[in-house]
Formats: sequence, structure tokens, C-alpha cells
Amino acid sequence: MSDQAYYITTPIYYVNDRPHIGHAYTTVATDVLARFARLRGRPARMLTGLDEHGLKVERAAQKKGLEPQAFVDSMAAPFQDAWTHLRCAPDDFIRTTEARHREKAQALWRRLEEAGDVYLGEYEGWYSVSSEQFFTEKELLPGNLDPISKKPVEKVREQSYFFRLSQYTDRLLAWYDAHPGFVQPQGRFNEVKSFVAGGLRDLSISRTSFRWGIPVPSANDHVMYVWLDALTNYMSALGGPTEPGSAPLFDQFWGENAEITHIVGKDILRFHAVYWPAFLMSAGLPLPTRIWAHGWLTVDGEKMSKSLGNFIPPEPLVDAFGADVLRYYLMRELAFGQDGDFSHDNLFARYQGELANGLGNLLRRMVASIVANNLGGTVPDVTSLPNTEEENVVIEAAQAAAKKTAERLTAVAPQKALDAIWEFVAVANRYVDRTAPWALAKEGNTERLAQVAYTVLESLRWLSIMVWPFMPDKSDMMRAQLGLPALSPAAGADLWPAEWGQLPAGTQTAPGDALFPRFDKKQQRDIRVKLGIDGDKRKDDRARENASADKSAATPSKSTAKKADGNAIESGAIEFEDFLKVDLRVGTIQSAEPVKKSNKLLRLLIDIGEPEPRQVLAGISKHYAPEQLAGTQVVVVANLKPRTMMGLTSHGMVLAGSDEQAFSVLRVEKPIKPGTRVS
Ligand code: MSP
Repeated sequence: MSDQAYYITTPIYYVNDRPHIGHAYTTVATDVLARFARLRGRPARMLTGLDEHGLKVERAAQKKGLEPQAFVDSMAAPFQDAWTHLRCAPDDFIRTTEARHREKAQALWRRLEEAGDVYLGEYEGWYSVSSEQFFTEKELLPGNLDPISKKPVEKVREQSYFFRLSQYTDRLLAWYDAHPGFVQPQGRFNEVKSFVAGGLRDLSISRTSFRWGIPVPSANDHVMYVWLDALTNYMSALGGPTEPGSAPLFDQFWGENAEITHIVGKDILRFHAVYWPAFLMSAGLPLPTRIWAHGWLTVDGEKMSKSLGNFIPPEPLVDAFGADVLRYYLMRELAFGQDGDFSHDNLFARYQGELANGLGNLLRRMVASIVANNLGGTVPDVTSLPNTEEENVVIEAAQAAAKKTAERLTAVAPQKALDAIWEFVAVANRYVDRTAPWALAKEGNTERLAQVAYTVLESLRWLSIMVWPFMPDKSDMMRAQLGLPALSPAAGADLWPAEWGQLPAGTQTAPGDALFPRFDKKQQRDIRVKLGIDGDKRKDDRARENASADKSAATPSKSTAKKADGNAIESGAIEFEDFLKVDLRVGTIQSAEPVKKSNKLLRLLIDIGEPEPRQVLAGISKHYAPEQLAGTQVVVVANLKPRTMMGLTSHGMVLAGSDEQAFSVLRVEKPIKPGTRVS
């Protein structure tokens, strides 16, 4: 556990528009990382807030017929409320129109002036109000468009103060060399370095043609450039810049010993990785530790915008699914640092598959069913029972998941952290399938039953901790059902799971509501209607739902068989991204055996590169003898919802095709590593 102070920030949002899920993505990611640091017992602080000055905001106010201050005041609550609804828990919320910020932005200006880095000149060039940024003629897109927002730029000619950015080229390059992790991901760092290595021009840092900003201390007819004003928020919220000893928060979280992470979108990296460090160098202040540029969230493949009608506010999604589900989805869907797509279909699919059938099912079948019905609702005492190989697999998987999740969150890879957690959910669910506690109860094998129950309950305890940064409410619910108090992190106490077997025997469990209640088709449709995504898509969605409901997890269904006769190939092309949603893997069949009392099913154990082989049930016993399959390689649909048949759960599907004459399982032509993705 580290006692190094941890400071993490979101960008401050322009208030010209209401919050949408793109903003939510940044804020949730930052909140997840802050919560993780708190859980590890670190002194941690998270900041978010609003960027309320500048031409863009001034014009948005004019459009509404409001004075800028009245307008920004009206916008603060929607942002604050959105973050509260999303269970984001910043320690502070800064607005750049607050006096505490104005004073500090002016203090920073004075420091730049004292360093001899500010001079008066005249700016002539192009300004983009949408990005609040100057561009050179060369940088513009044809038609004088801002290369980032693709909106028109304006010709500006006015008196302006300049910052001697050109003097910082070498110092910045030297800093980058000495701090290889300063900007992440690495590819973006390379872009920043080559931009700086190309030589920097002095930066215009004041405007005289409008008034909505912080006055330049020595020249009240100038207002500070909105980015210089805005970047200072990271410090002003701590009471800096100021002399050591006069602002405790500033000393603690902006001292040389603090770890400072700015989470930003890729579009605003240059401001954070070039201008901000140069201002800080000039002012003689410490630099942040790391700037993490994440990718953009598109909606059904398109950039989110009001004009395209695909602007998605977070609240209705929170109302429909709950805050934790949206948090989970946003963190799971995008690889941090890369762009990714938001789609309601994926949200539903992840909800039903990973949450309801994965984690929710594990909790429900153990606490509400096995433990309640057979063990009097109490955590059994298994201290005298030696673990078998089956328990050891689960314990090792728990330890591996905790280690990987912590490493990945430390490395700002929330998506990969969730992968590690859900690998463990799968191991625990498979353990339940394999050990079949219902059968143990029937047989009266109480010792073994107790051991299985304890192993799963303890797994759930580990999971309740690992999911906390992502889903704090669901963690609380899980713990309440396990008979444990909610986690309450405090500096100095590392709560991350480390030791197996800490769930006390005798704890009274408390089965409660389903963690993720399954939605039936009607409920799904109602949600779609509420979210306004029913419209034209409704028919398509229904068709898709029906098709997927038809498809058996094990047997080629009638509808697939029909397709083979040629005419029934579904019309309508799908996007490549849609195809990628199907996770196809090469698998080696390790064993095959008939399922008792079934004349169709074979139980296959298939190695698809996971710690444990998967159990897949395939309706092929009429066509294949088990020994024809064992040892051969096939293609497995790996992300299909688990399905239970004849008391066994199938975790995937083997690809096969048939016509009137033959039935054929698709084999892999040359041996290839199990788990290799097929595309
Ligand atoms: N006010 C500036 C930031 C100043 S920080 C000193 C600003 N504001 S913004 O509201 O336009 O954007 C704030 C953040 O939201 C940026 O990091 C931006 O990348 C992020 N996002 C806005 N739309 C987004 C998506 N569609 N997807 C992901 N993040 C996006 O820039």
C-alpha cells in the first residue's frame, strides 16, 4: 500500500451544453480510479468542475437571452446532478467563475509575468470558438474549418498578450525524455513529442474583443485566454498557486511527492501536455505526473451531436438500468485510450449476459438457493476440510484476478481490469456447474456441500471488493446479502482482497433482490420506448431478439438449418463492428461424453485458452461419436449467454452446418493456438 497522495482530475466541462455520456465516460473513469486509490488506503482526492468562461459560453448565453453569469449558474446543477446520479464522488467541484478560482488564475498570470514570459503584441489569425483555440492557416481544413471540431473559424485581429512558449521547446522535450510515462497512451505521447519538436510559437493568452473572462491583473481591458484560465482549475481548487505552508491541500496534492493524474479526452491533449507544463515551468511549480488521453465515444458509429439527433444524456439510462450498470458498461465497452461505440443493443447484451447471467446468477444461486435452502442461511465452517484440486483452481483464480485487476487499474486500464474480474466470475460459475451443489444436497453430502458453498461465498466476498470502484451500490448489495458491512475506505487501510478465507463462519447471509433483475422482452421493449429508441428500429430489434431467442446455445436451430438451403440468407448488411461483437475462438476439444438421459446432447470440455476448459453442450450426438471429437479443433462462439439444459450449463456454442445429406462440425484446418480469435 502506498501512502503517496493521489490527485486525479477530470477536464472541466464547458457549460454551453448539458452533460452527455461522453462527459460521463471521462467522469466515471476518473471516479473509478479515485475509488480504487481510496480502497487501497491512499490519501486520494478527485476533482471535477465547470469551464464557464470564453466566447463559446458567452454565445450560448446570448442564444438563451441570458446574462452569462445567470446562464452558467443555471447550468451548474445539471452537471452536479448528473455526477451524483452516476455515483461519482468528487471531493470538490470547481467553477471558474468562483472568486477562489479567479484569484488563483490571476496569481498564476503574475508568476508568468514575473518570469519575463509575458509580452504585449497583436494577434492576427484564425480562432475557433468551438475549440476555443487559435489555428494557423496551414492547420485549417478546406473551407476554413477547425480541424478538430470541423466548425468554421473566425478571423481575429486584436491586441493580445503573448506567452513565450517558443522558449520552452527544449525544456519540454527534455522533460518528456526524462519522464517516459508523462503522456499515455504511448502513441499519443509520440504525437505530442513530434508536435513540440517541430518548434513552438508564442501563444496568445489574452483577448480584448469580448469581456466574458477573468481580467488580466495588470490590464483590465484584457481577459485571460480561456484555456489559461481553465487549466489553473487543477490548482485553484487546492488553494494554489501559493507559497508552501499556506494551503495544506495544495502542499499535499500538488507537492513534489504527490502523484497527479489528469484524465483528458484525446482532443484536448495538447493543452495539457504542452501548454500546461510550459506554464508550470515558467511559474516555478511542480508538473503533473501523468496525463492520460482517452478515446472518444461514438453513438452507433457516429459522433454525438445535437444536429445528428444522437445526443445521449446519462440520466434516462441511469433511470432505466441504474447508475452502476451504466458505469460498468462505459468502462467495459471501450479500451481506455481508444475510441469506442455506445450502442443500446450492446448495453442490453452486456446487462443480460455479463451482469444478470454472470455475476447476478452466481450470487443468486448460492445465497438465495443453496445456502438458504440447505445451510440455514449461514456461512458454513470448513476450517477442518482440506481443499480439493477444484477449490484450489478457484482460489488461484481469485488471487490472479485480484492481482491483475489491481495492476490494471494502477496502469489506468479499467476495461482490462473488468476482463480480469469477469474471468474470475466465469471460473466461479463453472465451479458451481461442475461441483453441482444441488446434487450434493440431494445426496446428503453435507461436508462437500459446505465446502462448495464456502468457496463460492468467499469468491463473492472477493468480487464485492473488486467491483466496488466500478459498481459501489452493487458491491453494497452483494455484501448485504453475504451478511457483510458495506466497504468504507479510509486513508491508511488497504481493503483490497489479499487473504483467502476471511469470510467468518457463522455469518448470517441475507438473500435479497436480484442484483441484476433479468428483463423479459416486454420490459426490454418498455425501456426502449422510454429511451426513445423504439421508433423505426423497433421492428428490427424485435426480429433480432426473436432470432437470438431461437438460437440454441448448443444445437443448430431450425432457423440456421433453413439458412443453409440458400434462399433464406438474411437480407440487410451488418456493420463490421456488429460482426466483431461475436467472439469466435479456436478451441481444442479436450473431452466429449454423452449427456445422461439426452438423446441429442454431448458434453464437451473445450480449451479456448482460458485457465479452465469451457463446458459446452452440443446437440450433435446423433452425428458424432464422442471419440470422433476429442482432440480436434473447432470454432467456438465464446460470448454467448450461458444456457442450462438437462441440469448442465453450456458456456458457448460450436459452429456447425447441415444440409439434407450431412451434418458437419466446422474444424480448423491446421493446428492453431487454443483461444485464437477467428475473424
Ligand atoms: N473545457 C474544456 C476542458 C478544459 S480542462 C482544463 C473542454 N470541455 S468539453 O466539455 O468540451 O470536454 C470535456 C471533456 O469531455 C474532454 O475530455 C472531451 O474529450 C470529453 N468528451 C466530450 N465528448 C466526448 C465523447 N463523445 N466521448 C468521450 N469523451 C468526450 O474541452
